[in-house]
Amino acid sequence: MIIIKSAREIDLIKKSSKILIETFKLVDSLIEPGIETITIDREVEKFIRSKNAKPAFKGYRNYPASACISVDDHVVHGIPSKSKLVNGQIVGIDIGVELNHYFSDAAKTYKIGKISRDKETLLKVTEESLHKGIDAAKAGNRLSDISHAIQSHVEDAGFSVVRDLVGHGVGRDLHEDPQIPNYGKPNKGPLLKEGMVFAIEPMVNMGGYRVAFEDDQWTVRTADGLPSAHFEHTIAITKTSAEILTIGR
Ligand code: MF3
Ligand code: CO
Repeated sequence: MIIIKSAREIDLIKKSSKILIETFKLVDSLIEPGIETITIDREVEKFIRSKNAKPAFKGYRNYPASACISVDDHVVHGIPSKSKLVNGQIVGIDIGVELNHYFSDAAKTYKIGKISRDKETLLKVTEESLHKGIDAAKAGNRLSDISHAIQSHVEDAGFSVVRDLVGHGVGRDLHEDPQIPNYGKPNKGPLLKEGMVFAIEPMVNMGGYRVAFEDDQWTVRTADGLPSAHFEHTIAITKTSAEILTIGR
């Protein structure tokens, strides 16, 4: 069942999102060649707790960290470690915040130093596809219109959309109904309504769409070893459009 949030609840999700926006500003300032990914995670956790909020991922199904940090061919759910970021890498950072029992979830893929042209294009197309999906998230459309908008944009650029992981409803929990695939035919699934809150999160591979798990049981990597990118926002469907809650205005 897709929960319709009241204006008061959306306001609470906005307050959670505001902390998430500030957390990403902190990551923007920290991330550079040579930093250990565990350092980013520690600073993220410290910052979120300093706002009297909780890192939503820590302890979720025993996930051990506050941020997921996924380098190059790691698609999502990479576990922070002592390995250092290196010039030329792309690094997906995914963070969730829980404040007063309300959740927000967002991700972006960073460039470390100078990256290849192909990686530049991958990042650009993935972020664009997220915004195509968000544009399709309006009252009166159906759920799969979001999926279709993302897939079309990605495949027109010659990249592929990961099938095995999806976006989701968010708000009272980190993961709520519905699941939001990043691929599919248009005009299928539930009608979108004012008050629905979603985390839309395309994961886009430079090569094939297939993925595999690393030995740590968390890290999802591309099957062909080519790079992957991930962007995510928490959005609320309003009367006229979608409001992006995890972008500062
Ligand atoms: N943003 C991620 C998602 O929605 C959350 C990571 S799951 C966790 O799938 F276990 F790492 F928290
Ligand atoms: Co998510």
